[in-house]
Amino acid sequence: MTTDPSIVLDFNRVSKAFTDGPPIISDISLTVARGQFLSIVGPSGCGKSTLLRIAAGLEKPTEGICGVDNNSIGYVFQDPTLLPWRNARSNINLFAELQLIDKLVVKDRVDDVVELVGLREHQEKYPRQLSGGMRMRVSLARSLVLRPQLFLLDEPFSALDEINRQRLNDEILQIFVQEQFGVLFVTHSVAEAVYLSSEIIVMSAPPGEIKKRIKVPFAYPRDPDLRYDPLFASVALEVSQSLRETQI
Ligand SMILES: Nc1ncnc2c1ncn2[C@@H]1O[C@H](COP(=O)(O)OP(=O)(O)O)[C@@H](O)[C@H]1O
Ligand SMILES: [Mg+2]
Repeated sequence: MTTDPSIVLDFNRVSKAFTDGPPIISDISLTVARGQFLSIVGPSGCGKSTLLRIAAGLEKPTEGICGVDNNSIGYVFQDPTLLPWRNARSNINLFAELQLIDKLVVKDRVDDVVELVGLREHQEKYPRQLSGGMRMRVSLARSLVLRPQLFLLDEPFSALDEINRQRLNDEILQIFVQEQFGVLFVTHSVAEAVYLSSEIIVMSAPPGEIKKRIKVPFAYPRDPDLRYDPLFASVALEVSQSLRETQI
């Protein structure tokens, strides 16, 4: 791990192969600092989820080093995986309960987080009574309660319709600006990557390598109308062209 205290994830020349197979990702070096929103785009199968699983400590690199504080990670997947027999509030409590955080501390934090993600009126509802967007808010909230320094987000919004997706994009940005954690975000949507990120990494077709890094030249907080700015379109074009080249 580097000595810079703002760095919350540090991949140093990480490669990963599964037993006897070819490398899935190869020679990946990247860092995520607090206040940085780093997105990864790349063709299916190039190892994006594997990279996140290594960052989360669920897989070990075959080569290289992954430096991360495992006690301070929030991990959110495409599928919110809520427990159907617990209501929204009780699902939000879940990770804190598992980590044996003091009950009174948890109560305060859950009150805050429920407000932050706009679930106050829906706390008593069960997952089956919630829309897809609301279920994803519960999933985000469940990790936010742990006050992570690093958020790992694996295509969290891809099952949502466009309006809900944009709404959740704005909400996650608002929380990010407020909490200043670091984010490693995987998405298939170029527009979403540009709208959210401070930097975008384009990965090549398998074995996944870093093909290009593109800095996104917009300050936070971001205005929803940014999506219609000509400069936004030119950054999106650069990402798309780079992605297209990976598929040839
Ligand atoms: N536990 C595993 N054992 C063997 N192969 C795996 C395992 N996990 C992922 N893979 C393989 O790694 C490749 C990359 O998968 P993944 O990281 O999910 O890619 P992406 O998220 O970019 O679509 C796929 O070919 C997948 O089959
Ligand atoms: Mg994946």
